[in-house]
Amino acid sequence: MLKGKHIIIGITGSIAAYKAATLIRLLVKRGAEVKVIMTPLAKEFITPLTIATLCKNPILVDFYNPENGDWNSHVDLGLWADLYLIAPATANTMAKMATGVADNLLLTTYLSAKCPVMVAPAMDLDMYQHPATQQNICTLQNRGNVIIEAATGELASGLSGKGRMEEPEVIADAVERFFASQRRFEGKTVLITSGPTYEPIDPVRFIGNYSSGKMGKSIAEVFLAQGANVIFITGPTANIPLGDNLDVVKVKTAAEMHAAAVSYFPSADIAIMAAAVADFTPEISSDTKIKREGDSLTLVLKPTKDIAAELGKQKGPSQVLVGFALETNNEAQNAAKKLASKGLDFIVLNSLNDTGAGFGFDTNKVTIIHKSGESVPFDLKPKNQVAADIVDVIHRYQSGS
Ligand code: CTP
Repeated sequence: MLKGKHIIIGITGSIAAYKAATLIRLLVKRGAEVKVIMTPLAKEFITPLTIATLCKNPILVDFYNPENGDWNSHVDLGLWADLYLIAPATANTMAKMATGVADNLLLTTYLSAKCPVMVAPAMDLDMYQHPATQQNICTLQNRGNVIIEAATGELASGLSGKGRMEEPEVIADAVERFFASQRRFEGKTVLITSGPTYEPIDPVRFIGNYSSGKMGKSIAEVFLAQGANVIFITGPTANIPLGDNLDVVKVKTAAEMHAAAVSYFPSADIAIMAAAVADFTPEISSDTKIKREGDSLTLVLKPTKDIAAELGKQKGPSQVLVGFALETNNEAQNAAKKLASKGLDFIVLNSLNDTGAGFGFDTNKVTIIHKSGESVPFDLKPKNQVAADIVDVIHRYQSGS
């Protein structure tokens, strides 16, 4: 049910606008309060009177009401909404959303909305397949917008293929599932290690690595969006999530990360080891800057403590521990070995041999392996979707579904 949920529906100029009428009826029937913004062209496809009658609210099209000069505040609309659902979304509107064009109320509201955004595209098959459209869809997904993929079937052009807006029932179900997922981890605490560690050589130099912390940040964002409390233990990186129910613990070295993880782990239901922890640290860190003297400099390194393995030893029966494995060769074998030796429940394997996967990229290609040996391979995707896949797998495992 959608009782008490505030939903803005954005309708753009597509023949599929007629389906928005049924969609609004379904959402209202399921308990949602719906306000509707139409683009000027959308009014040519379905009348505002029909839509206003169904949503029981006046339709918003212009920045202000020409009769009395009342301002339609896109900022207030954005704050009112729990969800902004743009259905149908034309190729034109998605391109404008992707690039930040703000030439109608639907778009200014998109730019100021703080709530989650769902988008149901509708267009002809060739427009849908065009690299420009696909890239715009990818940009919106990267930004965390949820795309309800177009369906395949007969199109208004008479052609048949992928491009039809999904059926209203399917979209309404997706909306319900979306709201349900926001509460999936309510009351759960998730500990995440993220980013690189810096091991000091002297006051101005360190041994570090290329980890950007993007993967850890994306996982934190998904858990926060699904109601969890997140303890985010991060090495030095700019990629730090924002949100309520979030504790950020900033550390520099592997030893500091280890100490923080061990002290917070007892309160965690789930721990995700996404950090690229240095395996070795200088045995001696000089208090003063090392001078350039002699022909060579030898640094003696000692191993750091393995945080994941330590938590694996301390893990209680109901705690879930997830590690990552970044491999260059014998990937599956090495990952399985790490999973067992560190006492993990899952390991997320990514191979440096996959283009677009690993450090620094916005995308990643992973295989999630469970301790039972079961493994699920995923396609190359933006990191926020990889994060959603990882969180889904953990949820399925925890709920036994
Ligand atoms: N890890 C950790 N503490 C360390 C080293 C690694 O918690 N000191 C965690 C990582 O966060 C990751 C997993 O262990 O979840 C595997 O990290 P990886 O660097 O791939 O494995 P290592 O055990 O360091 O093995 P190697 O570098 O030899 O492949």
